[in-house]
Parts: sequence; C-alpha cells; structure tokens
Amino acid sequence: MERTKFTGKHSREKPSTSASASTCRKALITGITGQDGSYLAELLLSKGYKVHGLIRRSSTFNTERIDHIYVDPHDSEAKLFLHYGDMTDSGQLTNLIYNVKPDEIYHLAAQSHVRVSFDMPEFTGDITGIGTTRLLEAIRRSGIKTRFYQASSSEMFGDSPAPQNEETPFKPQSPYGAAKVYAYWMARNYREGYGMFAVNGILFNHESPRRGETFVTRKTTRALARIKFGLQDKLYLGNLEAKRDWGYAPDYVEAMWLMLQQKEPDDFVIATGETHSVKEFVNLAFAHAGIEIEWKGKSKSEKGIIRSLTSNLQPLPSNMKVGDCLIEIDPRYFRPLDVEFLQGDASKAKKKLKWEPKVRFKEMVKIMVDSDIKDLEEMKQCQDVIRKLSDNKSRQ
Ligand code: NAP
Ligand code: GDD
Repeated sequence: MERTKFTGKHSREKPSTSASASTCRKALITGITGQDGSYLAELLLSKGYKVHGLIRRSSTFNTERIDHIYVDPHDSEAKLFLHYGDMTDSGQLTNLIYNVKPDEIYHLAAQSHVRVSFDMPEFTGDITGIGTTRLLEAIRRSGIKTRFYQASSSEMFGDSPAPQNEETPFKPQSPYGAAKVYAYWMARNYREGYGMFAVNGILFNHESPRRGETFVTRKTTRALARIKFGLQDKLYLGNLEAKRDWGYAPDYVEAMWLMLQQKEPDDFVIATGETHSVKEFVNLAFAHAGIEIEWKGKSKSEKGIIRSLTSNLQPLPSNMKVGDCLIEIDPRYFRPLDVEFLQGDASKAKKKLKWEPKVRFKEMVKIMVDSDIKDLEEMKQCQDVIRKLSDNKSRQ
C-alpha cells in the first residue's frame, strides 16, 4: 500500500493549521477503511492528531487501506485507535463520541456506490441518509462540542446544468443522490438550529490507487493491468459517454480538513473544473500502457478494439494482436437514471480555503495505471520466487 506524504502548500498558509497547533487534537473518522478515510487518517496523523476510526465488524479483514499506519494500541507511540460500530447503531455512536470527545468528526461512512443504490434504495437511505442524522443526534445528546464534516456529493446536483457550484439547485438522479441531499440538509439544520459547527464538503468524483474496485476508474485500470498480464480477456463497461470532473483523492482530503479549520462553518464545492468522459478515461489509461484503442459500432454494440500496440506494454501477452476486442458494453452496468455531465466550480474554495487541486486528470490516470501494473508485477515476482523455491525443493 503506497503512503502519501502531505507536504501541501495549504498547511503553511493558515496560522491555525501548523503541526504544533494541531498536536493532541483528536479526530473521529467514520468510514476510515474507505478510500478517503485512509488518506484523511494519514493526513491527520502527519499533523499530530490522535485519530479514532469507526470500523465495521466483518468476517474478513477490511482494514487493508489502513494497515500500513496501524500501530498496536499497547505501544506508547500509538496515535490511531479503531472502534467497532455501525452507522445503524445510534447507542454505540453516542457512547463513542462521549468517550472519545473528538475535537473534529469527519463523517465519511456511506453506502457510496450509485449503481448499487438502485438495487438497495432503502438500505442506502438508511446508511447514507439517516446515518448522518444518527451521528448528529449522537453529538447533540452527548453534549460534546465538536466540529462536524459531512461528506456531501456532486451526485446531489444530478442533471442541474454545469458548472455546478454551492448555489446550484440539487436534482438528484439516484437513491444515493437523494440520500445525500437529505443528509446535506440535516447537517445544515443542526448548524442553523443548534449552532453546531457542521459543514458540507460537496466533493466531485475523486480517485486514486485506493479507489474501490467497482468504480469505473479503478475497474478500468485494474482490468487493464490484468489484461496486460494475461489474467483477463476483456473489460465490460456501461455508459461510456457520461462525463465526470475527476480529481485526486489525497488533494480532496486536504480540503476536508481545511473546512474544519475555518472561523465559521460553511459549505464548499471541491472540484477540478475539468470534465472528461468515461471513454476518454479508458483511452488515456490504455494508451499509457501502450495499447491504442479505437471504437467501433454504436450504443450497446460499441466495442474497443486494439488499433496499435507500442513497446510500453512489453512483455505482451503472446496472443494479443491489433484488431482484438478488449472492451465491450454490458447493459448490466447501465443505471435506470444516470448523471450525464458533472463539472464543478470550486472558486469559493479557492478564495476562502486557498485550496486548489495539485494533481490533474492526466497525471491521476497515469498514477492509477502504474499502481495496478506494479501490484501485479510484484505478485508475479513473488509467484516466480515461490515456484523456484518449490522446484529446488523437489530436486533435493
Ligand atoms: P468508500 O471507499 O466506499 O468508503 C466507504 C466507507 O464507509 C468504508 O469505510 C465502509 O466500510 C464505510 N461504511 C459503509 N457502510 C457502513 C456502515 N453501515 N457503518 C459504518 N461504516 C460503513 O467511499 P469513499 O470514496 O472513501 O468516499 C467517502 C465518503 O465521501 C462517502 O460518504 C462517499 O459517499 C462520499 N463521496 C465520495 C466521493 C468520491 O468520489 N470518492 C465524492 C463525493 C462524496 P467498509 O470498508 O467496511 O465497507
Ligand atoms: N461503476 C461503474 N461501472 N460505472 C460505469 C461503468 C461500470 O462498468 N461503465 C460506465 N460507468 C459510468 C457510470 O454510469 C457513471 O456515469 C460513471 O461511469 C461514473 O461511475 P462511478 O465510477 O460508479 O462513480 P459515480 O459518479 O456514479 O459516483 C461516484 O462519485 C460520486 C460523486 O459524484 C461515487 O464515488 C459516489 O460515492 C460519489 O458521491
């Protein structure tokens, strides 16, 4: 698991944000095992915070993204503490907040997959929507003074015209988007009704090598690596024309933290301002690995074919050749409704938070492709070593 170094310019620009000012501050992160939770935990630890994370009990390990920063709690140096809980369990949330007494709470836990939210609308409403209310109530009832970050989403804008900013009306196009709109308003209600320091970060899509494997970017880079190593023949996708404003997750967790360092609570859009289609993402990712794709056919019959192969891809799977079809459409990945065009306007964040994205689209695509290829290369080297060892053993 790669570790990010946070040496961002933001941290030097505000007096309240120096490492010493942050020393011994306590943060609670829900969703710490997710993409954003893991980067945020690293960021806060690097600033001297004690970090508490809520994790779900699972029959298999679900802490892979944070294993590299975990230290045994018996160790006097330990600064990261994990607690079992669930967004459906109000009693545990209240106890946890009362016992930990965090200065800052970053609420990132959610059923975060938009396509899945159509299959599980009620569950998504419960976790992604009501979950926020449970946490806000837990804060209110425990009587703790804390700052609260709500992970709001550009999916709330739905088909409202771009560029979308803090004033753009919400027109969600999915159960997930509707649940996030509800949670957004609950955070605002607690801010306005109870004077709570509650903020909404309205984040546009952000990706990384730690992105969940079923989101379109990671699904693509992971499949590409597997195709390169001859482990997979094809990549099946849904809507290729949808456009997203894709940023880089480590940049976005800095914005979350900055929002909680302001004098007054407020809501902010976080985005790059650039938008690209799914097809553009796929083209760029494959090109970076040495496979130029051309598209043939229309709609459900559209296919991504190898136009040319360059040396970047060496060694090639022996059977791969120009004209092979690597990408097909599977209508299972279409959604009953889809958001076609997202492009954020983050000028308010630029002005008030002094936040700007550092890693842009092209660089992010390369980072993700390189990481998935490297992971498989390392796995292959391990397998080669094991094979050699067992060959030697059988000869003894
Ligand atoms: P993610 O990788 O899917 O992580 C979701 C986290 O929530 C995981 O730690 C998951 O735990 C936890 N979780 C899910 N259900 C839970 C429950 N019932 N109780 C406790 N924890 C639960 O999501 P992400 O990409 O890091 O996104 C973080 C947040 O930002 C989410 O709220 C998401 O909706 C929102 N958001 C994301 C983006 C984006 O582009 N990434 C953009 C805007 C907003 P397990 O590991 O056990 O599953
Ligand atoms: N997941 C997925 N899988 N999406 C596909 C596929 C596929 O095979 N093929 C095409 N797409 C299209 C989707 O239809 C959508 O238009 C676009 O790719 C992006 O899909 P996702 O990567 O699943 O992300 P999302 O935009 O739906 O949701 C993400 O961003 C939101 C912010 O706008 C999630 O991270 C949400 O949690 C987040 O709030």
